[in-house]
Amino acid sequence: SSEALQAYLDTAVALAREVGPAFKDGFWRTGQFASNSDYAAEGKLGNEADCVTAVDRYIEQTIFARLRTIYPKHRFVGEETTAEDGNGYEVTDDPTWIVDPVDGTNNFVHHFPFTGISIGVAINREPVVGVVYLPVLDELYTAARGLGAHLNGKPLPVVRPPALTTPTSLSQCSLVTEHGSDRSAAVIKSRLDSFTRLLLDKEHGGACLQNLRVTGSATSDLTLVAKGVAEMYWECGPHAWDFAAGVVILLEAGGAVFDGAGWWGVDIPECDKSPQPFNLWNRKILAIRHVPDLPGKPGSGRELQRRLAGELLGHVQDIPYSPDGGH
Ligand code: IPD
Repeated sequence: SSEALQAYLDTAVALAREVGPAFKDGFWRTGQFASNSDYAAEGKLGNEADCVTAVDRYIEQTIFARLRTIYPKHRFVGEETTAEDGNGYEVTDDPTWIVDPVDGTNNFVHHFPFTGISIGVAINREPVVGVVYLPVLDELYTAARGLGAHLNGKPLPVVRPPALTTPTSLSQCSLVTEHGSDRSAAVIKSRLDSFTRLLLDKEHGGACLQNLRVTGSATSDLTLVAKGVAEMYWECGPHAWDFAAGVVILLEAGGAVFDGAGWWGVDIPECDKSPQPFNLWNRKILAIRHVPDLPGKPGSGRELQRRLAGELLGHVQDIPYSPDGGH
């Protein structure tokens, strides 16, 4: 019910606000070379590019401890818990809180402001509540299915027509994407090949995108698309905790998401009937912002979302990561 969703949303907002001061304090103290071990970054499984800090652990533990008292029967999936116990987790239909305590930990360690806390709730495997708090930028994004999306209490997208244009080709679009922390030769080559195809001029078979940006945080990428300042976000490799909350925010802001097989958009009728809807656990995501209809052409915005997304996928290489969960 919408009362239950509102209650989950209120809880998530209260938790994000509670841990916000620890996040902001840690942001300036934490560093690769911090002499106080409480503020040092550690590479996970020996990979310096995939790091964790005491702040990640503190925030995740605090959030889960509170949630376990309020909702003892719910399930909990967190980046650090899952990474540290090494056992993975089972994906079920039960209400599941999906938390990334610090998304963009690499940015956090380098004091680069695109980093934040992501708290999502999925029911029947679909995300229904999302809170993303970017404390350094002072941006609190909130959404619940059917209840709209907001940035600091104002409805999204913040950029609205006529400023929010209706792009008709990729050369009018700005894409946010990520190079990720997997530095194996095949993955880096594949990502760079995709970047080349996306940027290259059309005469040489490229998409000639107007803009390609890497912010270092999947969570904040989704907020940029929800806000309307980037047209798309594409990445292979992020986990459900990186985008569960952001997906709800984007969908409620009129955007759509695709996982390489299934679509999800708030009122794309085909999505509800799709035999294979967007899969939150697939580790693939293409997100596209709200596209206003062309004058006198109802439904044209949704058609353009699909066409532009299809064109983009024609220029990028899939990287086959194993889906989350299932252990
Ligand atoms: C990562 C960041 C990064 C993205 C990775 C994520 P983390 O999350 O969002 O930008 O490329 O796919 O796993 O490890 O900083 O929480």
